[in-house]
Amino acid sequence: MIFNTHNFFSLILSSFFIITVHSSRNTSVSNSDSFVLSCGGGSATDADGRNWVPDSKFLTSSKNSMTATAQSQDPSLPSTIPYMNARIFTSESTYKFSVSSKNRHWIRLHFYPTSYNDFNSSYSYFSVTANGFTLLKNFSASITSQALTQAYIIREFSLTPIHSGSLNLTFTPSIPNSSLAFVNGIEVISMPEIFQSITMVEFSDTSIEVEDSVLQTMFRLNVGGQYIPATNDSGLSRTWYDDSPYLFGAAFGVTSEADKNVTIQYPNNLPKYIAPVDVYSTARTMGPNPKINLDYNLTWVFQVDPNFTYVARLHFCEFELSKINERVFDIFINNQTAQESADVMAWADSKQGVPVYKDFAIYV
Ligand SMILES: *[C@@H]1O[C@H](CO)[C@@H](O)[C@H](O)[C@H]1NC(C)=O
Ligand SMILES: *[C@@H]1O[C@H](CO)[C@@H](O)[C@H](O)[C@H]1NC(C)=O
Ligand SMILES: *[C@@H]1O[C@H](CO)[C@@H](O)[C@H](O)[C@H]1NC(C)=O
Ligand SMILES: *[C@@H]1O[C@H](CO)[C@@H](O)[C@H](O)[C@H]1NC(C)=O
Ligand SMILES: *[C@@H]1O[C@H](CO)[C@@H](O)[C@H](O)[C@H]1NC(C)=O
Ligand SMILES: *[C@@H]1O[C@H](CO)[C@@H](O)[C@H](O)[C@H]1NC(C)=O
Ligand SMILES: *[C@@H]1O[C@H](CO)[C@@H](O)[C@H](O)[C@H]1NC(C)=O
Ligand SMILES: *[C@@H]1O[C@H](CO)[C@@H](O)[C@H](O)[C@H]1NC(C)=O
Ligand SMILES: *[C@@H]1O[C@H](CO)[C@@H](O)[C@H](O)[C@H]1NC(C)=O
Ligand SMILES: *[C@@H]1O[C@H](CO)[C@@H](O)[C@H](O)[C@H]1NC(C)=O
Repeated sequence: MIFNTHNFFSLILSSFFIITVHSSRNTSVSNSDSFVLSCGGGSATDADGRNWVPDSKFLTSSKNSMTATAQSQDPSLPSTIPYMNARIFTSESTYKFSVSSKNRHWIRLHFYPTSYNDFNSSYSYFSVTANGFTLLKNFSASITSQALTQAYIIREFSLTPIHSGSLNLTFTPSIPNSSLAFVNGIEVISMPEIFQSITMVEFSDTSIEVEDSVLQTMFRLNVGGQYIPATNDSGLSRTWYDDSPYLFGAAFGVTSEADKNVTIQYPNNLPKYIAPVDVYSTARTMGPNPKINLDYNLTWVFQVDPNFTYVARLHFCEFELSKINERVFDIFINNQTAQESADVMAWADSKQGVPVYKDFAIYV
């Protein structure tokens, strides 16, 4: 993704699989069918003040699984809850949740691959399905964490509405009786429909019906800002990360934060859950000097799997300038022109401090 001259806020990049279920569209958010489970643990509050409950009553069978405690705590873990306890599955096991049949749901899976009592997660390969739809296949949390040099792994999916109202989440070891499956935390969170139809970059007559798709979140970044924990999100318990590790080369641009006298004002047609104020009140720009900013690209690089369609949602909010035509830039995704002459003030009806977002879809 490449930017030429500009001001850019936060970004979520999602891969998705097209499925054929047609969803009803209901944008209300409900907490009655949301679940935050500390697997193999008890009721507890994490370092950010979020409540987690035990997983046992959601398991359809008490056989085939056991609880375990991690033997060591990596200093980079954000919290002992839910990572220091695990549920370990010796064979196929299913969690069952009663959910609203009208809404989408996030599924977030938390993994801390380490040694637990007799279980060494290096030997663990498994699959996870949601009502038969494969979310993870022959997954090794241990290999994934080594590749990403992260002590813990979070995988986030967004499921289309489940018309039966019953969600089955099944863990299956890849090799029966020899590889085990495990999980540290599970979230099932009711969410509104946040994506509609999105046009493919450079194929303006082709669009992707994201409402009908199961999505996987790849990256969600607070550009020019800092880490935002789930408890500080605007209602959807998302986690937003610092964008600087993804910047290409030495061209970091300039980060800035909205002045205290600028109010971030969501327009009537933009619900606050689209992204929190902290996302819109920090930015990375290419700087004010045209001699410099016309001469380089500000580029973020993301490692993704080939053969999927990806959606990039870019959030913008102009809080420094006040007129149309003052800051105009081009957006390229994989060297293709995604947007020419982007002008955030024009998108925001010439109002400073008004959030807007733009979605782009591209096949990689
Ligand atoms: C959305 O769901 C809520 C709660 O389930 C319900 O009260 C409302 O009527 C629904 N709206 C639409 C447009 O279906
Ligand atoms: C777990 O297995 C890996 C791979 O064989 C090994 O390197 C590691 O030392 C083991 N951990 C423990 C605590 O035995
Ligand atoms: C969910 O699992 C239960 C018990 O394992 C099974 O009876 C039911 O058919 C499953 N439902 C779906 C939608 O897969
Ligand atoms: C799972 O992945 C491992 C490591 O990449 C590989 O050795 C193994 O053959 C795979 N198993 C299956 C069932 O695909
Ligand atoms: C796995 O172990 C169980 C119990 O020890 C045994 O009943 C079953 O046949 C084994 N399955 C395989 C595929 O070896
Ligand atoms: C989260 O919000 C709380 C309360 O507004 C604030 O004190 C805290 O600094 C915020 N944390 C981060 C990481 O932004
Ligand atoms: C906010 O304050 C800065 C200087 O501190 C000033 O340049 C800017 O014009 C002010 N913005 C508004 C909307 O008043
Ligand atoms: C991508 O899809 C093409 C066509 O289906 C296939 O030939 C190719 O092997 C796939 N590449 C990967 C990395 O899976
Ligand atoms: C973009 O273009 C540059 C220069 O031609 C090339 O090195 C790079 O591989 C291209 N990137 C992609 C993702 O196509
Ligand atoms: C910025 O990237 C675009 C798209 O890859 C390329 O056409 C352009 O030459 C680049 N500009 C600079 C100054 O590197």
